[in-house]
Amino acid sequence: MTNMKSTFELDEEARRILIANDRGGYTVPTDGLYPYQWNWDSAFAAFGFASFDIDRAWLEFEWLFKGQWSNGMVPHILFHQVDPGYFPGPEIWGCGGQVPSSGISQPPVAASFMRKVFESDPVAGRRHLEVLFPRLMAWHGWFMDWRLDRGAVCVTHPWEAGRDNALDWDAAMAAMDPAGVGEYTRRDTSHVDASMRPTKYDYDRYIWLVQNGRRANWDEAEMLKTNPFRVADPTLTFTLLRANRDLKAMGRAIGADTARIDEWIGTLEEGAKTLWNPQIGAYDARDVHSGAFAGSLSNASFLCWFAGVDGEAMHPHLTRMLRDVPFAIPSLDPENPAFDSRRYWRGPTWAIMNALIGFGLEDAGLTEEADLLRQKTAALIAEHGFAEYFDPFDGTPAGGGSFTWTAAVWLGWASASAAPGVAGTGRRVAN
Ligand code: GLC
Repeated sequence: MTNMKSTFELDEEARRILIANDRGGYTVPTDGLYPYQWNWDSAFAAFGFASFDIDRAWLEFEWLFKGQWSNGMVPHILFHQVDPGYFPGPEIWGCGGQVPSSGISQPPVAASFMRKVFESDPVAGRRHLEVLFPRLMAWHGWFMDWRLDRGAVCVTHPWEAGRDNALDWDAAMAAMDPAGVGEYTRRDTSHVDASMRPTKYDYDRYIWLVQNGRRANWDEAEMLKTNPFRVADPTLTFTLLRANRDLKAMGRAIGADTARIDEWIGTLEEGAKTLWNPQIGAYDARDVHSGAFAGSLSNASFLCWFAGVDGEAMHPHLTRMLRDVPFAIPSLDPENPAFDSRRYWRGPTWAIMNALIGFGLEDAGLTEEADLLRQKTAALIAEHGFAEYFDPFDGTPAGGGSFTWTAAVWLGWASASAAPGVAGTGRRVAN
């Protein structure tokens, strides 16, 4: 193709995106649509920065932990600087942490990316890690104390899984009555076409859940009693399990006590088994209140390898996706009647999920599959840009553009310039 950009040009563009989205300590996911620091986006951002500026990578983590609550929770959004272009803002959440924030968390991938950053330069990283290690312990401990059901980690709001409108939440959302939610003005649909965003039905419930948390003063014990939404989730379960393995490795490197982490790993390994839905033959979300599975084979189902749990029975699904879907892995199985190729987490492909899945495949020794997934992701970005997400069949970019985590995944994993073997272990860093 004549007008295909070179790796060098794409690397340059990715670095420019990270730098443009840098707000001096934290990175916004994209200008306009998401004007704050998002939790898991920020861990990806650090990973991207580490390919050219390791100090900036550590700074990203440090800013994330500035918002940690006294109970250990690390919020999903930190409102460092108020921006009227986003709804719901700090006044709706009504949380009183050190930094204004949301009242829920997000997939804990920070430890996993911190390990990559640390291992790329352990000498320089040690002083940062010594400060952040106890912070990570407190955050992971918060999940273990408040969010387990039979050892699997639960979301208390769809936004907590990072997969906002996934099929996984449909039944739990339908069982809710968002009465009294009142009038509000969304901002997302003024940045992005409504057909690519969640519906009003979804939004009423999202906002009602925020109001409910606020009524409970964001007290976890109180919310356990009053929150109608509690779903054991593969995203949180798999990422926390993996994050604990990475935390343990980092703890050992600095001579910290890791006995508690071993216990957590054992609990989560058992919990992961409770997410196996024999009816669809896949890892799935499980509604804690009804006990029912969602029937959703999603991209989070494929995080089993990332977590280091048995993925053998998932392998046929992987083969099918890599064979039949030009830009795999879609966020929902295209064979599911609810599949919608442009609507957010109900079909589109997300480069960040591909990276996590790819790291897992490589660690499990499935190098051919890992390479293929990486090539597909690289082609997707090279041909269609650094979008928030993409149509898995024709690659059409969707959602926000110039997206931080897509640029970061390019630099750290998908680009041909990313060091081979980067996926599973530490990562070389150019200086
Ligand atoms: C959307 C995504 C979520 C992400 C956020 C910022 O809400 O679903 O995963 O963290 O945008 O990019």
